[in-house]
Amino acid sequence: MTQPDAVNSGVQLSDAEKREIANLQALGRDLATQLYVCLKTASFYDPRNDNFRKQISKFLDLLNVATDHESHLAITDVDGYLFLNDQRLKIKLDGYLAAKYLQSSFENLAVAGIEFSLKTEFEELEKVFAYIVRSDIKVRNADNLNAYFNELGIRNIKFIPALTMDDGREDEDDETERTSAKKTFFQALSVVQQVMGGFAQQKKRNTNFFKAKRAIHGIIDEIIKNESYMLELTVLRNYDQYTYKHSVNVSVFAVALGIRLGLSKARLAELGFAALFHDFGKTRIPIDLLNKPERFNTLDWSKMHEHPVYGAKALAQAFPMDSHTARAMIVAFEHHKNVDGTGYPYINRTRQVNLYSRIVALCDFFDALTSGRVYSKNPTPIDEVITQMIKQAKVKFDPYLLKVLINIIGIYPVGSILLLDTGELALVVANNVNDIYRPDVRILADTMGKKEQTYVVQLAEYDKENEKYIRNISHLVDPDKYGIDISQYILES
Ligand SMILES: [Fe+2]
Ligand SMILES: [Fe+2]
Repeated sequence: MTQPDAVNSGVQLSDAEKREIANLQALGRDLATQLYVCLKTASFYDPRNDNFRKQISKFLDLLNVATDHESHLAITDVDGYLFLNDQRLKIKLDGYLAAKYLQSSFENLAVAGIEFSLKTEFEELEKVFAYIVRSDIKVRNADNLNAYFNELGIRNIKFIPALTMDDGREDEDDETERTSAKKTFFQALSVVQQVMGGFAQQKKRNTNFFKAKRAIHGIIDEIIKNESYMLELTVLRNYDQYTYKHSVNVSVFAVALGIRLGLSKARLAELGFAALFHDFGKTRIPIDLLNKPERFNTLDWSKMHEHPVYGAKALAQAFPMDSHTARAMIVAFEHHKNVDGTGYPYINRTRQVNLYSRIVALCDFFDALTSGRVYSKNPTPIDEVITQMIKQAKVKFDPYLLKVLINIIGIYPVGSILLLDTGELALVVANNVNDIYRPDVRILADTMGKKEQTYVVQLAEYDKENEKYIRNISHLVDPDKYGIDISQYILES
């Protein structure tokens, strides 16, 4: 589905029109955020609560700001983008969580969005908000919800029907964003390669410091635009450039996690940078050891265990000293320290591991195991990795951060292959925040074999008549075992 989008269409606009669009953009973002605050407050408090009523008043104030010629304001989710009427909203970092929350709420209600007439009254908002956040909600989809609220005398708020299922056509915007995600990812990969490769050879100050910072800003912007597109690229394996690919993957996971924690863009840039160079010390480990095909012996391990200290020192040599370099040095030094103080390098006093290091340690462990680092050879199935990590929470990892990471990657991460009870083979394309056990998938093959035209379905799709889900997951499939080349679907799509 393509929606009109004056900002992107390339049409020449007058200054007055541009101003109007900018106003609508700002209003749209404010409305979306305030709708989120209202729904969040409604889910915590009783409808009589003062705080809830205060938030509704603020929402009403925003509705009243709307320009004269708009009689209705509709907030909708179209293919993962929020719209105010026909204007696609450019969501900024501080509005990211609100947008995600609204999208998952609309999905939960099986609607595309919600429309408010400018005559909307306080009591109407109060009733609708209090109802739609209930966990035991029985009424879903736009027609049912509209009929239900109509009975209650609510005339000024309408739910907008969900669009029909994706018919397999990728829309133009999606295609562009996907391409842009890939470009950013591979640019970051090339920067790490230049920086780390260059340092390993010459051991001197690096000129790519600014390029690396720019690469991180690119990663942050792409994740804000579409987290799934960046996450699916982490699944691609690259044994020849394992350390570089691993560094970019860890940076993507760390930034995604930082966004969920509500870190500012400046903090995210430092975190992403530190994550990108957490294994900088490996530039001083002989390449033969890094690529050793056999299992490591005790001597190999003790050499490998030196990379955090090497890393901290080498970063100071390679980059000018600023907050990015300082953070990166701490993370390089601490990323193999566990939250209980164990791990390496050994430190002769107890100190809490830095938040950035805790984030990177978690993402590092997850990526190393799932992508099958050189010295453990085979990738561990994702469900086993998560079980292992949950078992090690509190000792090795920060349990709260682990929970956030699992929420991002889901139990079935983007890029994994599933066998469904329908006999279909499916590629996970997006995590479902409402139900991590039922992601969105692309059907690649059915019992008759590979499909020419693949298409996306939601495993959360429920057959009301027969009271069962249309498709269920049988189990995760190891793509190597079945000769499935995931990169074919990720890079060519
Ligand atoms: Fe490491
Ligand atoms: Fe690592």
